[in-house]
Amino acid sequence: MATETEEIRGIGHSVRRKEDDRFVRGRGNYVDDVQLPGMLHMAILRSPYAHAKLNSIDASAAQAMPGVVAVVTGELMAQHNLAWMPTLSGDTQAVLVTDKVRFPGQEVAAVIADDPYVAKDALEKIEVDYEPLGVVVTPQAAAADGAPLIRDEKDDQSDNHIYHWESGDKDATDRAFADADRVVTLDTFYPRSHPSPLETCGCVADVDPATGQATIYMTSQAPHAIRTVFALVAGLPEENIRIISPDLGGGFGNKVPVYPGYVVATAASLLLGKPVKWIEDRTENLISTGFARDFHMHGELALKDDGTMLGLRTSLLADEGAFHADAQPSKFKVGLFHIVTGSYDMPAAHVEADGYYTNKAPGGVAYRCSFRVTEASFLIERLVQNAAYELGMDPADIRKKNFIDKDQFPYESVTGFVYDSGDYHGAMDLALEKIDYAGLREEQKRERADGKLWGIGLASFTEVVGAGPHKDYDIIGIKMNDGAELRIHPTGKAILKISSITQGQGHETTFAQIVSEELGIQPEDIKVMHGDTDNTPYGLGTYASRSTPVSGAATAMVARRVGEKARKIAAHLLEVSEEDVEFHRPNYTVKGAPDRAVTIQDVAFAAYTNFPDGMEAGLEGNYYYDPPNLTFPFGTYAFAVEVAPETGEWQVKRMVAVDDCGVRINPMIVEGQIHGGLTEGYGIAAMQQITFDEDGNCIGSNFLDYLLPTAVETPRFELGETVTPSPHHPIGAKGVGESATVGSPAAYVNAVVDALQPLGVKNIDMPLTSATVWEAIQAAQGGS
Ligand code: CDP
Repeated sequence: MATETEEIRGIGHSVRRKEDDRFVRGRGNYVDDVQLPGMLHMAILRSPYAHAKLNSIDASAAQAMPGVVAVVTGELMAQHNLAWMPTLSGDTQAVLVTDKVRFPGQEVAAVIADDPYVAKDALEKIEVDYEPLGVVVTPQAAAADGAPLIRDEKDDQSDNHIYHWESGDKDATDRAFADADRVVTLDTFYPRSHPSPLETCGCVADVDPATGQATIYMTSQAPHAIRTVFALVAGLPEENIRIISPDLGGGFGNKVPVYPGYVVATAASLLLGKPVKWIEDRTENLISTGFARDFHMHGELALKDDGTMLGLRTSLLADEGAFHADAQPSKFKVGLFHIVTGSYDMPAAHVEADGYYTNKAPGGVAYRCSFRVTEASFLIERLVQNAAYELGMDPADIRKKNFIDKDQFPYESVTGFVYDSGDYHGAMDLALEKIDYAGLREEQKRERADGKLWGIGLASFTEVVGAGPHKDYDIIGIKMNDGAELRIHPTGKAILKISSITQGQGHETTFAQIVSEELGIQPEDIKVMHGDTDNTPYGLGTYASRSTPVSGAATAMVARRVGEKARKIAAHLLEVSEEDVEFHRPNYTVKGAPDRAVTIQDVAFAAYTNFPDGMEAGLEGNYYYDPPNLTFPFGTYAFAVEVAPETGEWQVKRMVAVDDCGVRINPMIVEGQIHGGLTEGYGIAAMQQITFDEDGNCIGSNFLDYLLPTAVETPRFELGETVTPSPHHPIGAKGVGESATVGSPAAYVNAVVDALQPLGVKNIDMPLTSATVWEAIQAAQGGS
C-alpha cells in the first residue's frame, strides 16, 4: 500500500471548472435541448391590458388551424380545479385568467400544437373580448382612496394592501432620535429590475397516462420545492413527480417562482397523454416573470455632531405586483431587509414595510440578493454618504467611526441578527490603500479647481446569506435545510448528490473540492449530481447565495461522516486501533509511524472487499444540514468617476472591490462571481429600469429598451480580499454569489453624487443614465 504525495486540490485551489468542458464544446443540456417522442409544443396568449375584465374567449378559429391540438383556457383549467395556484408567499395566483386580467402580459390562454411556430401563429386567431379597467402601477396609487381593487376575487381583500411588517424597537428608536444632534433623511426608489438570465424559462412536461408518472424538465432553481408545490396543486402523488432541472443558462432569482406555464404544460400533457414543451421568448420573460426590487424607501439616520450614529428609522412601500408570489422566508415579509443597519454599531433601529398589489407582474425575487438585502444595503450606504456631507466629515471616516469592531463579533444587531464574524476596518483599509484614497482625494481637489466633476464613492456592505436555521426560516412551511449524499466507489472515485443546483456558479467543481479537502480524493474523481429530484436529496434550492453556507456545509458534513467510517477501515487495514490513525490528506497513517500508510483509495476498495467483521459493507452516507446561523459576508467598494457636465455622462476611472466571503473554496470562481456581480450592479446603477406607462404598458420588454451592460461599457475591476472565516460553518466559508450586486450600486451612485457635491446634489435615483444626471446638474444650477 503506497503513500500518495500528489497535492490534493481541495479548498483554496483555483481548479478549472469541470463543467466548462461540456459548455465550451456546445454540449450543455438545457431544457430546450430536450426532445421526446411525440412531443407537442405550447405557446401562451398574454394580455395586452394591465387590468381588464375578461368577457369572453373565442378559440374556435385557432382550434381549427391545421397542427393545433388543443386550446387551453382558464375555464378548462377551472374544470380541473387548476385555474388558480398557491404562491411561495402563501398567496394565490391565476394560472390562466378566468375573471379578469391583473397585469400586462398575464397568461390568458395556451395553444398546444405539433409545431412551435404553429402554436405561436394560432395565438393570433384567438379572439378575446376584454373590458379595460382602471390601472394602478405604483404602490402610492394602490394605496390611494378610490384605487381600483386588484384582487377583488379574495374574500378578505377590500383594498390593495397586502401586509404591514415591522422589525426593531420603535420606542428605543424614538428616544435615540430625541437625543440626536442631527437627523439625515433620504427618500429613494430602487427601481424594478429584471434578472434577465440568458436562457428564458420553460419546461417539457411528460405525464404518462398509463403509470401516472410525471417527469417535468424545468428551468428551476428550486426543483425539490417545486415538486412539493406540484403535488399540492395538482393532487398528484409526490413519488410520481420527477422534476429535472438540467443545465440552466443563468437564474439570478428569476427561476425560483412557479410560473403558470409550468402548470398549464403539465395539465396539457396529463390531458393529452403526450409530452408538451413550452419555452418562453425574450419578451415574455422580460414582461411576465420574476422581477426584483421596486422599493420606495424612506430612511432617517440620527447622529451626534461628531458623526456617532444613534438610530435608524426606515419605512418602505413594496410593489409586489398583482400576485404576491416571491419566495421570502414566511416570517419575514420583506425578506432580510432588516439587515439595514449594515456594518454599523447601531444602538437603535425601527423598520416598517407595507406591501401593495399593483397591475404589474409579480415581483420581489431574490435577484442576486439574499431576499431584500440589496435594497437594505443601498439605503444605508446612501444615507451614510449623505450624513458625511451634512456633518462635513470624510465618507470613509464616518464609516470607520461607526463600524462594528472586530472584537465585537459575534454581534447582535438591534433588528435581531447575530453577525457571525467580520473585520470591516480591515476591508475598508485595504480598499482605501489599493485605490490610494488619500491621493485620489488630492486629485479630486485639483480636478475640482479646474471645474471638473470628479467623485469617489464608497460602500461598505454587510450581507446575510445562508437561509436558514429551521427555527426562523421556512418557505410555505418547508424548512430551509439542504441535504447531501456521498458514495465512494470501490476504486476510490466518488459521486456526490446535492440538493442545491448550479445555474453557472461552478458547483460541480467547488462542491467536489469540499469533498477533496475532507477525504483526499481529487476533484476530477468526484462527480457532482444535482437538479434531478428522483436522484438527489431534498433541499430548498439555489438562490440568495445559500448554496455554500447550507448545501456546501451539508457536503462537508457528509464527507466527515463518511470519513469516520474510512478511518475505521484504515485502522483495520493498518492493524492498529482507530485512535492510532491519523489523516494526512490523502493518506491515513499510523501515529508515530508515518511510513505505515494507506490511501483513501485503499480504504474505499477495502470497504467492499476487506472490511472488518461486524461492519456493514460500503462507504457512503447522507446528511441534512440545519445551519446554526446565517453567514455574513462583507466588503468595501471604492469607485472613482468623472462626470461630464455638458452631457451628464459618467465614466468609472478606478474601481476597487474588496470582498470577504470567509474561506474561499475556489478563488478563481469567487473572482468570477464578483466580476459578474459588479457588472450587474453597474447595469442596475447605470442603465436598467423596467417602467410602465399610465396605461400599465411595460416599457422594457426587449434588450433595446432594457439594457444589459456589454464588455464595452463595463468598467475594469481591481479586486482585493480579506479572509474572516465564519466560526460556525464547517469549512469557514460564507456565500459570495450576490455580494457585488448587493454592494456595488450604492458605490456607483455615491461616486456620482460625490462628483456633484460642488453643485450641492444630494440624491439621484437609479438608473443614472446620462439624461438623469444631466437633469440633476441642470436643476442644481437652476437651469431648466
Ligand atoms: O448560491 P450560489 O451558488 O449562487 O452562491 P454561493 O454559495 O455564494 O456560491 C457561488 C460560487 O462561489 C459557488 O461555486 C461556490 O462554491 C463558490 N464559493 C467559493 O468558492 N468560496 C466561497 N467562500 C463562497 C462561494
